[in-house]
Amino acid sequence: MLIRLQKVIADSGLVSRRKAEEWIAQGRVTVNGRVVRELGTKVDPAKDHVKVDGRHLKEVPPQVFLMLNKPKGYMSSLSDPAGRPTITDLLTGVGLRVFPVGRLDYDSEGLMLLTNQGEIAQALLHPRYHVAKTYLIKVKGVLTDEEIGALERGVELEDGLTGPAVVKKIRKAKENSWVEITIHEGRKHQVKRMLETVGHPVIKLTRVRFGSLSLADLPRGHYRYLTDREANQLRALVRSRQEAVAASREPSRLVAPPARRPTRQSHPARPARPARSTHQARPTRSTRPASPARWAKPSRRRKA
Ligand code: URA
Repeated sequence: MLIRLQKVIADSGLVSRRKAEEWIAQGRVTVNGRVVRELGTKVDPAKDHVKVDGRHLKEVPPQVFLMLNKPKGYMSSLSDPAGRPTITDLLTGVGLRVFPVGRLDYDSEGLMLLTNQGEIAQALLHPRYHVAKTYLIKVKGVLTDEEIGALERGVELEDGLTGPAVVKKIRKAKENSWVEITIHEGRKHQVKRMLETVGHPVIKLTRVRFGSLSLADLPRGHYRYLTDREANQLRALVRSRQEAVAASREPSRLVAPPARRPTRQSHPARPARPARSTHQARPTRSTRPASPARWAKPSRRRKA
């Protein structure tokens, strides 16, 4: 596959793409022994020998991110001791080893992210990073505004209180209805258990968004590679969450007590609590509670 020279250098982890362009213009880069100053040059990393300042680039496997629309009836793991169909059956043609970021139940469907980037995968799954996941759900009955309020504030499950959620009514049918729920955790069967708790068992569950990614019109059972833009948005999301978590650990100067000269009796200053936890962060579109009793447009149209 032919790839722009500056991208090959940047993908090797050596420098940014912009810096690589400078190096190319400065004549520091050779391809198959010849200096290349042309920024549009494309090379095949599998065949061409690219050197910077006379040294070979480190062999780095390309970063792979892809999304799969898992159908129900497939395990979201790569293998299954019980021999049931797994998502591996759907990933034909993916040359590199990729791992699912999180799971979906056997009878759930929708967006699954897969990558060979362990650090990003771990960060996206870390409960402290609160990555939003949105599900379109068909439930038994119709949720009342009180039940929606309870789900949004948090309901008590056997493994503890759930965090804040956003619930939107989408559509009602005769006996069932569709709702969209956004949560920031990833406990086992969490959405099903939340809805069971308020008396509305789940009939069908589809994950339609994961962080900055949307399932959109990817057909069931198909996968596609993320665009550069989507992959960069994921990286930026992870970076911003890492920064937010690091900042929440730092004592905040705003709320720190005024400096006092230490006396023999005084205790060492306790680190001040951060002004806001990430949970209390200023509401954004995805965390603002939905206004009650309004039937909103679904993210993805489906038949009731
Ligand atoms: N919550 C569930 O209950 N099941 C899923 O598959 C995903 C989220």
